[in-house]
Amino acid sequence: MLAIRLIAEPDQLDAVALPLRSGATDTASAQPVPTAVALPHGVADEATALASMIGLTGRAGEAHRQLRPGSTPARLLLVGIGEGDEAGWRSAGAALARAGKNETYLTVMLPTEATPEAVRGLVEGLLLASYRYRLGADPEPPALTGVDLAVAEPEAYQQAVEVARTTAEMTRLARDLTNAPSSMKNPQWFAGQVAEAAADRPGLRLRVREPEELAAEGFGGILAVGGGSASGPRLVELSWQPAEADTHVVLVGKGITFDTGGISIKPVPAMKLMRKDMAGAAAVVAATLGAAALRLPVRITTLAPLAENMVSGAAFRPGDIVRHYGGLTSETTNSDAEGRLVLADAMAYAVAELKPDLLIDLATLTGANAVALGMRTGALYSDNDQLAEDMLAAVAAAGEAAWRMPLPADYVEHLGSELADLHSAPTQGAGSVLAALYLREFTGDLREKWLHIDMSAPSWCERDDAELTRGATGWGVRGLLRWLATLS
Ligand code: BES
Ligand code: MN
Ligand code: ZN
Repeated sequence: MLAIRLIAEPDQLDAVALPLRSGATDTASAQPVPTAVALPHGVADEATALASMIGLTGRAGEAHRQLRPGSTPARLLLVGIGEGDEAGWRSAGAALARAGKNETYLTVMLPTEATPEAVRGLVEGLLLASYRYRLGADPEPPALTGVDLAVAEPEAYQQAVEVARTTAEMTRLARDLTNAPSSMKNPQWFAGQVAEAAADRPGLRLRVREPEELAAEGFGGILAVGGGSASGPRLVELSWQPAEADTHVVLVGKGITFDTGGISIKPVPAMKLMRKDMAGAAAVVAATLGAAALRLPVRITTLAPLAENMVSGAAFRPGDIVRHYGGLTSETTNSDAEGRLVLADAMAYAVAELKPDLLIDLATLTGANAVALGMRTGALYSDNDQLAEDMLAAVAAAGEAAWRMPLPADYVEHLGSELADLHSAPTQGAGSVLAALYLREFTGDLREKWLHIDMSAPSWCERDDAELTRGATGWGVRGLLRWLATLS
């Protein structure tokens, strides 16, 4: 991860980044911003002239690299910050990470009036856009190793940098877990990664249930889905319990380490990316580690039901009846609707045994998420307007996107089964909505305290885009951390 320093007296002026604010209109030239630390003589005027000659508008994320042989700085990076708000600076940070990737060191001249939020955006943009996932040696390691932020008063921004660094570090961890190939990523491995990440953080407790314990306690959904794999299922239970907390939140994340579809096997194109089917589990675990690192005064219990949905003689069958934790049964007409079966167990357990104030789940649950909302937006469901509004606000402020979807009463009848309490994969109706309605059946007396996000689509992106890099996005870590920070 890039080393970020706040400094009042820059000592490396070889490569300097200067912010440009949007002009008064869309087409007007960018406005150079007065900087907190003085620039070398003539640089500000040159930047103004360049911006107008090149036609820079200062829109967030615009970047231009100017070579200045024999001068100081030798390279000048002009970067657009838009309105100069957190989102504008986040895009600017991402643009700098790319435009400056061949520098070894970069000094960013912050404006006199930069807010801590702006600095948070800048640091998150830098740290997220410079993420790379590689196994083995990197043939083209990026040159950029450090960024200095030149400000008048470093102390004023220390906290913002700390929060941004933790947020980015945890988002990067979720990306690492999700990008990992399923040849290494089985349930046991995932649980081991959680143990490793939690080990050096005081105040975190971890319990991992193995198949025998899952059987003894009646986690029938997790056992059914995990039954076809040579790598047995696990249930991770990670808790953060600070003394001063009044609110207890349970986070649940779908952790299918590979989804073949099971006996209802997926076709080749649909199976290709199914190593990402544990992105929900990665997000809730990483957010919990982040909450502990930031010492947020909220109690969190995080559940990650982990299983590999495989095809084998031991696999569960379409038409089997699964008995979930607590006793509700599901008729499993399609073994590819496996995520809801493992989530149902974890949610029923949370409701019965943990009795939290709020129950949140994140899952790469349906391909229908992308059909409804496109590739960047999670589908958010809740019967609680305030909770939905708070989460939507946190997600948006963090730079992620979610859209609230309905839980319509006239769809509920599709969940009926003649053999069991519920049908896990109805064939009529909107897929993401039906999956949410199914999960709601496991919320018991927490029905009004539950919120679900289907994040199948935004968990992955096909190309670099602002702070996102090709592959796993770590979606949900940023939004959850923002939301958790509002509770106390
Ligand atoms: N893991 C998939 C959903 C998914 C699809 C995630 C594409 C990310 C990208 C899930 O387990 C699944 O297979 N869902 C089925 C549900 C259906 C069988 C009711 C789907 O969406 O087709
Ligand atoms: Mn599936
Ligand atoms: Zn799945």
